[in-house]
Amino acid sequence: MLELKNITKHYKHSATGEAAVNNVSLKIYEGEFLTILGPSGSGKSTLLSIIAGLLNPSDGVVYYNSNEIKNKKLKTVNTAAGISFIPQGQSLLSNFTVEDNLYYPIYLSGNKGNYRDRAEEVLKLVGLLELMNVYPARLSGGEIKRVAIARALMLKPRILIVDEPTSNLDRENACKVMELFGAINNDGTTVLISTHDESFLPLSDSVYRMNKGILQPISKIA
Ligand SMILES: Nc1ncnc2c1ncn2[C@@H]1O[C@H](COP(=O)(O)OP(=O)(O)OP(=O)(O)O)[C@@H](O)[C@H]1O
Ligand SMILES: [Mg+2]
Repeated sequence: MLELKNITKHYKHSATGEAAVNNVSLKIYEGEFLTILGPSGSGKSTLLSIIAGLLNPSDGVVYYNSNEIKNKKLKTVNTAAGISFIPQGQSLLSNFTVEDNLYYPIYLSGNKGNYRDRAEEVLKLVGLLELMNVYPARLSGGEIKRVAIARALMLKPRILIVDEPTSNLDRENACKVMELFGAINNDGTTVLISTHDESFLPLSDSVYRMNKGILQPISKIA
């Protein structure tokens, strides 16, 4: 279980002077599908980046299986805990083919070995096997998103964090992406997403709303 206790984030160069994340406490249970809704600028990406270990909080503590994780160790522990993060924007490397993009997290983690079979497996899962040798410039927005999902699955994460999985996607592609997260969650992976898309609600075990840095649970409108 991942637990956040009283997490606050003040950016050094904040336009508003307000905390981007304000005293957030949250428990994420194994196998859970947790969705965070909230307007633009409410702090969703900031919170997810902290949970993914990419950003240190100004205050508060993160626990992983009851062990306190000190700020500087966040990234290392999260990698060891099997946390994969898909950021909000386009995150593929444009000079590399889809296949080589898939190997990037392997390279970063220092793993050696042949991951060709795994690359084929995750591309099949997102329905894009035929695009293995293509460069990102030749992909549609929906395909780019699905490659980013495939890449996040390469090392079989236990927790998958996705910032706005369906932003800029049409209904058909958004549905494909949603179905994919449902299937990934059914396979036992914990899924944590931020979204404006309320059609994720039926998939979710828990739903929260973020507003001006404050996170509150809301009951599901099924
Ligand atoms: N690097 C930064 N430096 C200073 N302020 C920042 C930085 N990143 C974000 N902010 C501010 O923190 C607040 C929260 O931003 P964040 O990106 O977390 O919101 P969000 O809920 O993800 O918004 P969106 O739905 O538009 O993606 C905003 O007021 C934003 O301007
Ligand atoms: Mg955001």
